Amino acid sequence: MDKNFINYHRPAIGTEEIREVIACLKSGWLTTATRTKQFEADFAKFADAKFAVAVNSCTAALHLALEAVGIREGDLVIVPTMTFAATAEVVRYFNAIPVLVDVNEDDFCIDLDQAEDIIKRIKSREKVVGVPKKHNGVKAIIPVHYGGQPYDVNKCRKLCRKHGLFLIDDAAHVCPAYYKDEKGRWQYAGKGADIACYSFYANKTITTGEGGMATTDNQAWADRMRIMSLHGISKDAWKRFTKSGTWYYEIVAPGFKYNMTDIAASLGIHQLKKANKFMAERKKLAEAYGKALKGTLGIILPKEKPGTKHSWHLYVIRIDSAVTGIHRNKAYDKMKAAGIGCSVHYTPLHLHPYYRKKFGFKKGDFPVAEKLADQCLSMPLYPGLPRKSFQRIISTLKGIVK
Ligand SMILES: Cc1ncc(COP(=O)(O)O)c(C=O)c1O
Repeated sequence: MDKNFINYHRPAIGTEEIREVIACLKSGWLTTATRTKQFEADFAKFADAKFAVAVNSCTAALHLALEAVGIREGDLVIVPTMTFAATAEVVRYFNAIPVLVDVNEDDFCIDLDQAEDIIKRIKSREKVVGVPKKHNGVKAIIPVHYGGQPYDVNKCRKLCRKHGLFLIDDAAHVCPAYYKDEKGRWQYAGKGADIACYSFYANKTITTGEGGMATTDNQAWADRMRIMSLHGISKDAWKRFTKSGTWYYEIVAPGFKYNMTDIAASLGIHQLKKANKFMAERKKLAEAYGKALKGTLGIILPKEKPGTKHSWHLYVIRIDSAVTGIHRNKAYDKMKAAGIGCSVHYTPLHLHPYYRKKFGFKKGDFPVAEKLADQCLSMPLYPGLPRKSFQRIISTLKGIVK
């Protein structure tokens, strides 16, 4: 690897994590056991949830969440088009149908007014793009806290109550972030959902390499997710090789293999302790970007929405090529050529070949997401990004869009 290349992300792994992983390796117990259980207990406390189920990815958590609330073939599930593959693919695992919705221009999060309009149109049997004639109605919504900016949780909860939907949070980007609830109290970002699903993938604020967590206050859903995360075998399957466990188990459903390993949990336990510190460092960097890029013609900067605390998982700028004279793709290439790794989040789902072919989506269906997707550029952001690197990023970008 070129040591002068500035990566767009870099995990912050300390000696505590390394020591714990070594202790885990030496313990002779590598897969799900006490370290995973500790991580679950710590996480539940941190996220103010009654239950936390550790798994090997956020995708797994989302899959288990939909399974737990009973999503079936033919159900409709609302998903913003501006998201990663996982948010909608888990709906397809059930042969259910993701109903795509546009996003707000100011925060890249789901446009809840459009979501409600679509729900009403579906109820009155009007034609809605991507929705087949035969279906079981809208059962759930999976909003995304895009880039770490909490979506309007209070409004979404109202929408769910009104239309009888399950609220499954794609909380991949918010470990942690916060929002003010209807009573003005700060809440953890996933707190408003029926089930919230977090990612500990390598580029996330806290990481276990690969990993995820599902949190809920509902014991039945937590139990179901736990059982289904380990082959659908009876309670505490992970204990079967331990002193307190027994070889005997029963298969109660055809489950999955989604359990977290104790090696991953060794990282998670210590990363979690630093989550708020990492968030503060990310906020500082986001503020530094804001200050350094303020007033740059053709660059639109992200802003934390009132009543929220952004996790700054991503710092996504927009390049308005009509003003800068350079398109985002070209800017990305030039940054890369200068040794700076940026990224793009995302090409909207409806423009991907699978969704076009399967559900008939086309360009123009969700104009806001398309506009944002054409302009957005995710800048390097991680705790410990050297000051010199930061200055190089700013001067290179300014040179490119001049
Ligand atoms: C919005 C969103 N949802 C879900 C996921 C899936 O997370 P994981 O890689 O942990 O399965 C990601 C991954 O980056 C994501 O960005």
